[in-house]
Amino acid sequence: MERSDHEVLDDETPVNPSSNPTFQSILAARLTRRGFLAATGAGLATLAAGRLAGERAVEAQAPVPFPPVKASNEDKFVLPPGYKHSVPIRWGDPLFPGAPEFDPQAQTAAKQERQFGSDNDFIGFVPLPRDGASSTRGLLGVNHENVRPELTWPTWDGKAERTREMCDVEVAAHGFTVVEIARGAQGEWSVVRDSALNRRITGATPMVIRGPAVGHALMRTAADPSGTRVLGTLNNCAGGVTPWGTILTCEENIYNYFRGKVAASSPPAVEKLHQRYGLTGRGRYMSWGLYQDRFDLAKEPNEPNRFGWVVEIDPYDPSSTPIKHTALGRMAHEGATVILSRNGRPVVYMGDDARFEYLYKFVATGRYDPANRAAATALLDSGVIYAAKFNDDGTGEWLPLVQGQGPLTEANGFPSQAEVVINTRGAGDLVGATKMDRPEDVEPSPRTGKVYCAMTGNDARKPEQVDKANPRPANKFGHILELVEDGGDHASTRFRWEVLILCGDSRDASHGAYYQGRADVSPLATPDNFAFDDQGRLWVATDGMDDTLGPNDAVFMVETEGPLRGRALQFLSAPTGCEVCGPAFTPDNRTFFVAIQHPGLVDKVTYASPGSRWPDNRPDMPPRPSIVAIYREDGGKVGG
Ligand code: FEO
Ligand code: CA
Ligand code: CA
Ligand code: CA
Repeated sequence: MERSDHEVLDDETPVNPSSNPTFQSILAARLTRRGFLAATGAGLATLAAGRLAGERAVEAQAPVPFPPVKASNEDKFVLPPGYKHSVPIRWGDPLFPGAPEFDPQAQTAAKQERQFGSDNDFIGFVPLPRDGASSTRGLLGVNHENVRPELTWPTWDGKAERTREMCDVEVAAHGFTVVEIARGAQGEWSVVRDSALNRRITGATPMVIRGPAVGHALMRTAADPSGTRVLGTLNNCAGGVTPWGTILTCEENIYNYFRGKVAASSPPAVEKLHQRYGLTGRGRYMSWGLYQDRFDLAKEPNEPNRFGWVVEIDPYDPSSTPIKHTALGRMAHEGATVILSRNGRPVVYMGDDARFEYLYKFVATGRYDPANRAAATALLDSGVIYAAKFNDDGTGEWLPLVQGQGPLTEANGFPSQAEVVINTRGAGDLVGATKMDRPEDVEPSPRTGKVYCAMTGNDARKPEQVDKANPRPANKFGHILELVEDGGDHASTRFRWEVLILCGDSRDASHGAYYQGRADVSPLATPDNFAFDDQGRLWVATDGMDDTLGPNDAVFMVETEGPLRGRALQFLSAPTGCEVCGPAFTPDNRTFFVAIQHPGLVDKVTYASPGSRWPDNRPDMPPRPSIVAIYREDGGKVGG
C-alpha cells in the first residue's frame, strides 16, 4: 500500500525541543566508568571474548530450561519441544450469549461492540474468585490498541476517507475487553461466553476524569463543559494490575485521532501543547473527524487533552465507570506498573514511548490498606509524579513535577498542577529529565525490587546526542536498563542504574551488542513488554525484530541474577508481521499468555494479500490479532 495521510508510524516524529542531555551520552560514560572499553561493537566484542573462557565453564553446567527456539521468518507460532498453545480468543469473537460470529465482509459497530476488539496488547490476568489465587479460572483484561484499516476493510483503497459506518466500527474495535476464561483438563483455555463479568469498553464508553486536571479549562469541550466526563479510551497499549485487583490501561499514541488545525481564535498555548504531543491533524484515524466534532481540532481543540492518560478499570464490576487518573500525567503512556513503597504507598512506573521522551514514576500520598479496598482507587488521585534523570556516574535522580517547585512556575506556563499533568512532557523538559530511546515497559522485579526499563530503540539519535544510559547512536536494536532504588524503596528520589543488555546480535561486532559479556545468547532486539516469572526471570516480548535484526518478533527469557545474568534464550517465534504483546503468567506459572498484535502487517500490505492469515489460515479470513495461552504437555511450569 502506498503510504497516505491516513497511514502513520506508531512512534511519531520526535517532538521534544528541549536541550536536556540524552540518555546515550550517559550510557557511554556509564560503561566506561564500569571499566568497559566502550559501548562500541569492537570494544564489547573484545570484552566478551575475554570473559568467555571463564563463563564457558559456568555455562557447561548451567541448566538450560528449554532448548532455545531459532530466530525464524516462518509464518507460524513456534515453541520449544514439549510446549503447546491454544488460542482462546481472536478479534471478532463473540463475548456474550447471542453475540454474532465474526464476518469480515459484513462488520458493523453494533456487532463489534459485542465482540473482542482488534489489536490486542496488554493482558492482565486476575483470578476468580477475586480474593483467591486461582490459576485455572480468571478474568483477562485486554487492551485493544489499534485498528489496521488495510486488514479490516476488504474494499478500502488505502487512501480514501472512510465512511461513517467504517469509522463507527473502528471506534468500537478500540478500547478494552474483560473476559472470563477457564482452563481445560489438557491445559488449554477457553472463553466463558455467558459470564456476567464479560464486558467491552470502547472508544465511546463514558468515563470520568479525576485528579488535578479535572474541570480545568483545557479539559472542557462543548459536549462536556464541566471537564469531568469523557467518551472512551483510545490507543490502549500496555498497563498494569493494581494490588487491589483493578487494571490500569494506558493511552499511548493519541495524536493519530485528531483532524485538522485548531482555530486561530484558540489560545496560542493550545497549539503549542498539541505540538509537544505530536499532533499533526493527520493520521490513521483522521476520517473520524469528518463525522464526530470531537475529533476535529477546529471544532474541539481541547478533546486531545482528554486523552493520553492512565485509565483504571475494575474488571470485577461490569457496571463500574472507568476513571482517567490525571495525577499520573499525560504522555504517550506505554504501561503503568504498580508496586508498594516501603511504607505501603502505591508507586507507578511509566514510560513515555516516543523518541527522546522520558521515564516517569508516580508516588501516591496515601498508603494502601488491604482491608479497605474500596478506598484504594482514591490513592491514585494525589501524589507526586517524577521524571528520571540519569547521571553518567551510574546514579540517577527522580525529579519532582510539582507546581511551584523549581522551574514549574506560572511564569513558565505552569500556574497550577493541572497544567503540569496536562503538559507533563513540557514539565519534564524544564526540570532537565534525560531524553531516552523510547521507554516502553518499566517494571519492577517482584523478587528483587530492581526496576527494568525497555528502551525499544531510537533511530533518530545522533552521535553527539549519546549519553551513558542511551549509549548508541541510531539505536536500532534497543536496550534494557536496570534501576535500583536507594534503600530498596520505590518511593526513593535517588537510584543507581546500569545497562543490563544492549540488544542486537553479539556475533556481529557492528551491532555493539552487550549481554553482560555473554556469548551464549539468542539475539534479541526491540524490547517492548515485560513479565516476570516466579523465579524472577525477565520475559521480554519484542516489537520490530523484523525491521531491525530480520526475524519475526519473539519472546525471550532473560536471566537477571547470578552467574547466568544477561543470558537471553528465545522462547517463541511469532507469525509474520505481528508484534508480541501482553506477556502474563498465571500465579502458578503453568500458563503464559501472550497477545499477538497485527499479524500479517507487512510492507505494502493489502486486504487481499496480507503477510499472514494466522490464526485461522483460511483464504476467506484476514489475519486476526489473538490471545495465545502457552502451557506444557507435562503440566509443568512454563520456563521450568
Ligand atoms: Fe504501543 Fe509503545 O507500544
Ligand atoms: Ca502496538
Ligand atoms: Ca508496546
Ligand atoms: Ca512498541
